Amino acid sequence: MANDPAIQHEIIADIKRIAIELGRIPTRDDYLGNGGIFSGRKIEMSFGGWTVALNAAGLSAAKRDKRAKVSNEDIFGRDLVEQLAGHQSQIATPDAPKPMKSTAVVGDLHFPFTNMQTLEKFYAFLAKEKPARCVQMGDLLDQMSHSKFPTSRNIYTPAQEMSIGHKMSKEFWARVQEIVPGIECHQILGNHDVRPIKRLIESYPAGELFFSIDRFYQFDGVTTHLDARKELILDGVIFHHGYRSKLGDHRDYALMSCVVGHTHTGGVTFRQVRGEILFELNAGFMGDVDSKALSYTSQKIVQWTQGFGYIDQYGPRFIPCP
Ligand SMILES: [Fe+2]
Repeated sequence: MANDPAIQHEIIADIKRIAIELGRIPTRDDYLGNGGIFSGRKIEMSFGGWTVALNAAGLSAAKRDKRAKVSNEDIFGRDLVEQLAGHQSQIATPDAPKPMKSTAVVGDLHFPFTNMQTLEKFYAFLAKEKPARCVQMGDLLDQMSHSKFPTSRNIYTPAQEMSIGHKMSKEFWARVQEIVPGIECHQILGNHDVRPIKRLIESYPAGELFFSIDRFYQFDGVTTHLDARKELILDGVIFHHGYRSKLGDHRDYALMSCVVGHTHTGGVTFRQVRGEILFELNAGFMGDVDSKALSYTSQKIVQWTQGFGYIDQYGPRFIPCP
């Protein structure tokens, strides 16, 4: 009986047995030469051919060799227009950008030595764009009085500098929340902010237990991140004051998108890593380069760039304020 289901079932079981023993899909000769119990003729009578028998056994002949030969006929016989119309790129496309809340990024303010014109431009930007979030990237206060570098002591007493700087900081955060009610606010700390702690530890390490600068960095409606080393991560992006000088170095170290300040030089750089486009945004500078506190560079001409950063669904950018 040519198509006896019982015989077909036994043939299928035997082909599978040989496939398992060989560890591959057998050819007809493989089967016959490695102990297959049915003759080639019997298989052809039952299924009509070896390929049909393999398909019935769930062992597609097409899978036997992934590097199936492609003939000139396969290549040159195709209609090119039809082929291109159905073409799907084999190149991996980058993941869609992660959803990012619209975020205004304020770089080094250095209160009370701040460029108020740049700050006013930032407030105008807030009023227009109404971002969902604002992050101040540290160096909120200059803390000139606590610098270990030679600086003037004839401008403010340490108490005056702190009093004026803290008042300006409070006004800054109040103004941000007045312009955009309900905005999510984050304050992180920079190297200038922690200067008083550094000076204390240098001369009286045990005094650290009895000393805190925290209250000068806490404001109504603002989440303050008091550990200056710890990265703040929002929507998968690191926000850190920064410590490296070359734009992109923080991103390349962490292999994550980063927002930084510190160098006072705004800008953005991109890099594709394993199909994902990572960035580093530097938020630039809002200090007053002509102030006594920030005139420590050896030249009057500096490359610091006034401005601020912004990130939305279209990515990061630095907005210069000449
Ligand atoms: Fe700074």
